[in-house]
Amino acid sequence: MLSFGEEPLHHILIAIRQRFERGDRRVSIAVPHPELGRGLYPGETTLHQGVLLRHRPLRVWLDLADRLGCRLSLPRAVSDTHIRLDFEPLDPDRSWHDHQSVDATEKYGAGSVFQRIDKLEEASFLLDLLEALERVRLQPADRVLDLGVNSGGELAVFDLLDTALSSSLSFVGVDHSRTALALARERFPSKTHTFLEADLNDLDELELGRFDLVISIGTLQSPGIDDRALLRSLVQRHLVTDGSLILGFPNSRYLDGELLYGAKMKNFSQPELSLLVKDLAFYRKYLHQHKFKVLLTGKYDLFVTAVPVRR
Ligand SMILES: C[S@@+](CC[C@H](N)C(=O)[O-])C[C@H]1O[C@@H](n2cnc3c(N)ncnc32)[C@H](O)[C@@H]1O
Repeated sequence: MLSFGEEPLHHILIAIRQRFERGDRRVSIAVPHPELGRGLYPGETTLHQGVLLRHRPLRVWLDLADRLGCRLSLPRAVSDTHIRLDFEPLDPDRSWHDHQSVDATEKYGAGSVFQRIDKLEEASFLLDLLEALERVRLQPADRVLDLGVNSGGELAVFDLLDTALSSSLSFVGVDHSRTALALARERFPSKTHTFLEADLNDLDELELGRFDLVISIGTLQSPGIDDRALLRSLVQRHLVTDGSLILGFPNSRYLDGELLYGAKMKNFSQPELSLLVKDLAFYRKYLHQHKFKVLLTGKYDLFVTAVPVRR
């Protein structure tokens, strides 16, 4: 096990990388106990029993593991001053993205690894989506349209609203995955929930009427969807006059059970955000021009919340 006291983070980074480069499957390090430096900024030193220790909070080690594509085991105290951290590389072959499906519409279907993911178990996602919903200020009997609803997991967040309000809402979920929709119908058998199998590019032909809220998470950037045309159609043909939108965009990826920050781009070792930033800038500008107040929030998933200026 490598042991560090006052060395700067880049020394530790180099040492870990060298171990992985020589083929180690797990790198263990001992570093100053984060609780000895409570209230210090990362990198500040503290003298403990005559030994100089460089403080870092646990978050620094979680970030390091994330950026190295590693799993961090539960830190354990190995002395009064040090904890032990084990970094294990995630298995690149265990990405749910590699799911091979007979039909492109079933990439996220009932048989896919995607069904094991419950985004409402991710703290940032849950809090950001809930705050976006609170900003929308739904009214009793409002209609909600969810595009790319899949098996309906995200709809459970509406249950966290005031009970009288949430039980008065009605939902229409659209997706092209037949098997995911079957799971959604099982999950929400009530008449307040309708699930339709359709291509989002054909939304205008479905004659669904207008909605008070349109929500679409992790879907608008899917291959084959003309997101610009869909956004225009949502604003012009699917929202009531003072309707709102919540659009979610992944800024992360799952690998081997772990959520890693940043979408992976070909030929880049670190997350590359230009495409996402370009798309977000377009949505924000378009929605501003159409008299919405627009907020951009989130971390692993970014949320564009557009509420009419009047609300
Ligand atoms: C990444 S998943 C997101 C699902 C869910 N909203 C979530 O965040 O967990 C994208 C969803 O959009 C659906 N989808 C992608 N392209 C579509 C299209 N052209 N028409 C209808 N659904 C589509 C997929 O079947 C899938 O359920």
